[in-house]
Amino acid sequence: MVQSQSICFDRAASFYDATRGFPAGVDEEIADAIVAAVGATPATHFLEVGVGTGRIALPLICRGYSYVGIDISEQMLAQLRRKLRERLGQIPPQVSIQVADATALPLPEGCVDVAMTVHVLHLIREWQQVIGEIRRVLKPGGVYLYGYGDRVISARGEFEPRWTAILAALGFQPQRVGASSEQVEQYLQAQGAHLERMVAAEWQTAITAQALFELYAQRSYSASWQIPEEIFAVALRQFQEWFRDTYPDPQITLLGESEFQMLLARW
Ligand SMILES: C[S@@+](CC[C@H](N)C(=O)[O-])C[C@H]1O[C@@H](n2cnc3c(N)ncnc32)[C@H](O)[C@@H]1O
Repeated sequence: MVQSQSICFDRAASFYDATRGFPAGVDEEIADAIVAAVGATPATHFLEVGVGTGRIALPLICRGYSYVGIDISEQMLAQLRRKLRERLGQIPPQVSIQVADATALPLPEGCVDVAMTVHVLHLIREWQQVIGEIRRVLKPGGVYLYGYGDRVISARGEFEPRWTAILAALGFQPQRVGASSEQVEQYLQAQGAHLERMVAAEWQTAITAQALFELYAQRSYSASWQIPEEIFAVALRQFQEWFRDTYPDPQITLLGESEFQMLLARW
């Protein structure tokens, strides 16, 4: 298999849905918004690059669409296959779940109506090549859907700046491997795409301070996977001291707001 410089999510497969899953009903709301935005019909062929455990794919597959999902993580795909068997008793014949790299899609030219990436391009150094591949496999008139979630008001509040400051003081600066949403948008514009932005769903988030601290301590976020062990251990001790001082009641609930945004590109 072609190997890009990417962050594989094998290590997150067992906890991805528990830490990144949408609240009940939001996945269906996002699926409704995708179907409406791309004007899907029963004949529409979807491709999802970096499909993961099927957070976006599952409700669309359950509606009967033809769906190709690719990912470099066999472990994430194993979770998706398991969920499909549980929900549908099988992997439907019009669905293909494959281990493949986004920079070399295992598909012929002009074969899909809708190609999607959701929370993926920030993980791939060669993200521009991925967009090139997506354009290659899209049918004329097809749509590229770039999806991402935004914490409008983040429960992470003061956690994230504090964690970053501790790491910086220890000499570690997290580096994004791939593209920010601004970079993707600029690149698509430069490529002559007609762009349309939509908010597919909005919801409230609630998490206890303790549970949020555990997400950092368990290295749940991919941004923490590149931190060397010795720096992580020291940083976590300092973070824990700050946490104890700042949250005498660790069971306090922190509220936030999130939304799922979509940028649709057509050429
Ligand atoms: C943050 S997860 C998002 C999964 C899914 N799209 C979702 O929204 O739940 C990113 C996924 O992209 C996959 N990925 C990273 N680099 C990739 C690459 N070069 N080719 C294919 N998949 C890749 C990871 O293994 C992971 O499963």
